[in-house]
Amino acid sequence: MSDLLSVTEVEHYTDRLFRIRTERPSTYRFTAGEFTMIGMGDDDINRAYSYTSGPYDEYLEFYSIKVPDGPLTSRLQHIQVGDMLEVGNRPTGTLTLANLELGGNLWMLATGTGIAPFISLLRDPDTYQQFDKIHVVWSVRTQPELLAYNDFLQELDIDYTPVVTQDPEWQELNQRITKMISAGVILGGAQPTTDKVMICGSMAFNTDVKDMLTAWGWQEGTRRAAGTFVQEKAFVQ
Ligand code: A2P
Repeated sequence: MSDLLSVTEVEHYTDRLFRIRTERPSTYRFTAGEFTMIGMGDDDINRAYSYTSGPYDEYLEFYSIKVPDGPLTSRLQHIQVGDMLEVGNRPTGTLTLANLELGGNLWMLATGTGIAPFISLLRDPDTYQQFDKIHVVWSVRTQPELLAYNDFLQELDIDYTPVVTQDPEWQELNQRITKMISAGVILGGAQPTTDKVMICGSMAFNTDVKDMLTAWGWQEGTRRAAGTFVQEKAFVQ
């Protein structure tokens, strides 16, 4: 149910965040927005990770936090190029275009490592074909936590809004996404008929955004029926 794949790149951004790339077998398939299980191959400790690579990239990529005494990440953070990573080959997840009604504006709302599945979706040409306009809002505590994907997001033909909530030097938006939605700063004027929303962050963030959208007439999409929003908890918090 899993492959042992050779690590081709490791990049550390802060003492809490890093990114791993592995080789990708030519038969390995997944859909943008999905996740799989990852381990070190030497025990049964596996954790769910969203792919950040696109479905047509030649590599697999994952974005991770480092938890000092975390059962997996305390060891995973020391992985080196040439080491083997155990990568599950049964991708799954609800944060996919298949679960969403298509067309109009797409909003991707992320906190922390919840940006991961959106990076994959933004590396998939299909995402741009299905929507007229794409908005990405990514909230982190401090500026260095944007490093892994900030340049990539800035360069895309999308409306990208980074939010930094705990950095006195940050001059742009610094309020929590939920607060800005309530104030109409984010999703202002959005309607379920014209706007679709994807949510990925902490459990509390997801629940709060979901409750707001549901109260305003959005319907959650599942594998059985596409909806006007989808959500998935960012697994490794
Ligand atoms: P804040 O700094 O106000 O806690 P974390 O690193 O804890 O996962 O947080 C990442 C980002 O998500 C931070 O900007 C944080 O804001 C924000 N955040 C955390 N929890 C929530 C929540 N329940 N609702 C909205 N934003 C949240």
